Amino acid sequence: MSPFVVPPRSVTVRAPAKVNCELRVGPRRDDGFHDLATVFMAVGLYDEVTVTPSAVWSVRTTGRYAGLVPDTKDNLALRAAKALARRARMAADPVAITIAKEIPVAGGMAGGSADAAAALIACDQLWGLRTDREVLASLAADLGSDVPFALHGGIAVGSGRGDRLAPVLARGTFHWVFALSETGLSTPEVYAECDRLRGDAEIPAPLPSAAMMAALRTGNCEVLAAALANDLQEPALSLRPELREVLEAGLEFGALGGVISGSGPTVAFLTRSAEHALDLCVSLTASGVAPEVKRARGPVHGATVITSPRD
Ligand code: C5P
Repeated sequence: MSPFVVPPRSVTVRAPAKVNCELRVGPRRDDGFHDLATVFMAVGLYDEVTVTPSAVWSVRTTGRYAGLVPDTKDNLALRAAKALARRARMAADPVAITIAKEIPVAGGMAGGSADAAAALIACDQLWGLRTDREVLASLAADLGSDVPFALHGGIAVGSGRGDRLAPVLARGTFHWVFALSETGLSTPEVYAECDRLRGDAEIPAPLPSAAMMAALRTGNCEVLAAALANDLQEPALSLRPELREVLEAGLEFGALGGVISGSGPTVAFLTRSAEHALDLCVSLTASGVAPEVKRARGPVHGATVITSPRD
């Protein structure tokens, strides 16, 4: 190596949380997954993943939710890094991964998926691979249904398991408030509850609504609020009935609309403006109905390199 080329020491990538503006769940498939039609929006709550060359593979989490994420082989960011190394036939180039977590864990906001997407981009940069976007998207889909969207960002319609994405042209910025819960909900349990509540009912193929598409085209927050919908909301409320109180409180305090985010338990509220979002945060916090309340705007970009010695 030339004495003028300094190898990169570490790369940091941030990846956003998501909210499902609409989530339509089809029948359970033979592989245990459900076909979806979902409208994802990436929102400005971020996890930051830093990868550094190391003698051994490792992962550690910092920040408020540190204790809630596995620091083991089950960690999705670690699995993502190893999957990319395998794909690039780089068996012996381990990294130490640090995850600074801001996205709630098991909250229905795809925090683990954001970490996996960030790790893919970070390792790709660190190792200088320049992996094709399509290949990254396919590795992402193997890691989890929401990982491709965390790479993609913006607004997109997800089909299949939610991993097949079509971008949506949308106008404007939307201001969200998220009421978090103390403990998460298990995604497989919420889907299983959805199946249980449906019983033998005939379930049509899922489709996003025309109202949702029109709302995104116009950028009108009131129209979007009226079109918010989630087939996993009733199952999540069935498992966690106290979330109904959170939804009602947000609407009473003036939210334009409210919906459970993904498989919950986070409740997402749409507001009119940044000021309106701040007011709603204050009211929800003062009421004590949720242990933690956050604001974020969307759409935002997907996983993005923020620090790299290669820049
Ligand atoms: O793909 P991901 O790891 O996020 O999925 C977690 C679980 O959520 C799956 O094992 C499955 O039980 C459920 N799921 C589903 N249908 C989907 C996505 C997830 O049933 N489209």
